Amino acid sequence: MEIQLKDLLSKLTSRSLKHKVSILCIVLLISTSALLYTTGIVFSCAFGSAMVILLTTLSRKLIGVVYEEPINWSNQVVVISGGSNGIGRCAVESFMQYGAKVAILDINEPKYDINEKTCKYYECDIGDNAQITRTVNDIVETLGKPTVLLNNAAIVLIKSILDSSVEDFDRVSYLGSVYLTRAILPYMIENNSGHIITIASMLAFSGIPNCVSYCASKAAINIFFEGLRFELAQTKGGENIHVTTIFPAKVTTNMFSGVEVPQTLIPNTTPEQVAERALKSVLEQEGSDIFMPITGRLSIPLMCFPRFVRDWCHSILDVASSTKHFDGNKW
Ligand SMILES: *[C@@H]1O[C@H](CO)[C@@H](O)[C@H](O)[C@H]1NC(C)=O
Ligand SMILES: *[C@@H]1O[C@H](CO)[C@@H](O)[C@H](O)[C@H]1NC(C)=O
Repeated sequence: MEIQLKDLLSKLTSRSLKHKVSILCIVLLISTSALLYTTGIVFSCAFGSAMVILLTTLSRKLIGVVYEEPINWSNQVVVISGGSNGIGRCAVESFMQYGAKVAILDINEPKYDINEKTCKYYECDIGDNAQITRTVNDIVETLGKPTVLLNNAAIVLIKSILDSSVEDFDRVSYLGSVYLTRAILPYMIENNSGHIITIASMLAFSGIPNCVSYCASKAAINIFFEGLRFELAQTKGGENIHVTTIFPAKVTTNMFSGVEVPQTLIPNTTPEQVAERALKSVLEQEGSDIFMPITGRLSIPLMCFPRFVRDWCHSILDVASSTKHFDGNKW
């Protein structure tokens, strides 16, 4: 108890406004709830929820606007895997607009206009560790040490488990993100700053027939970055490195064309929206889990239900036929 109190006091007096604001929130919340309890449970619950929403919004605003120094974009070196098409392309264009230096890693050359002075294409197969090492060394020499990494490259396989090779299960989508993160992380730790953003998927929390390799790779990605986040928090030079994971449902790129998801519950997301959200997380200088749309978050609690409930959900959402008309993986 004594240690906890000391810990609390040191956090309260620490220079981090983030800690102060969160402790202030807790104290305010407890005291108002206690006060309001005398006026009735229903009113106090409503007031308590309103306070939570108000204070969390306020603390985010305070931390984002008042405390953090604004990003000096001319010092940012943003590495984007799969930057020639889809979400990657939109992200390249957004970061370029802000004046960051951008490294595009892809097997296909970008077919859109890039600012040659600040933006460079590196031909690189993300699933090949040797190519990644070579490319990252090249980036450090030509653009500088990476400060932002967007793990975006992925492939979708719509195949039965027996028709998929074992390599399909993890090569580009999972191992690619791991190789690239491992190659870039030392530069971020050296400066105790940086932001790693990864495009996972809502499918990290649900297995779809004929799409198992993709779901499994996204599930692996989710846990890899969740674990990395905790590991960095206790690594010297890693405490200030932000980790963001984005979980989109269906993104309207050619990669997923023909995939059908129920629009009323899980509306489609555009690649522009995903790219904007990635940029926003860098601006906020805070890592988070982002579900696009927010209803995608429901796939997490669904896993807690027994099988018959999950089976029932799959059948009413007609998940089995969602990939029947798949015509994607094209650029
Ligand atoms: C941003 O960084 C550049 C290069 O290090 C420096 O010249 C410039 O003054 C910085 N801008 C601001 C607003 O701090
Ligand atoms: C080092 O971190 C500072 C902010 O903490 C940032 O402005 C700068 O661009 C970073 N430099 C490198 C080389 O990563």
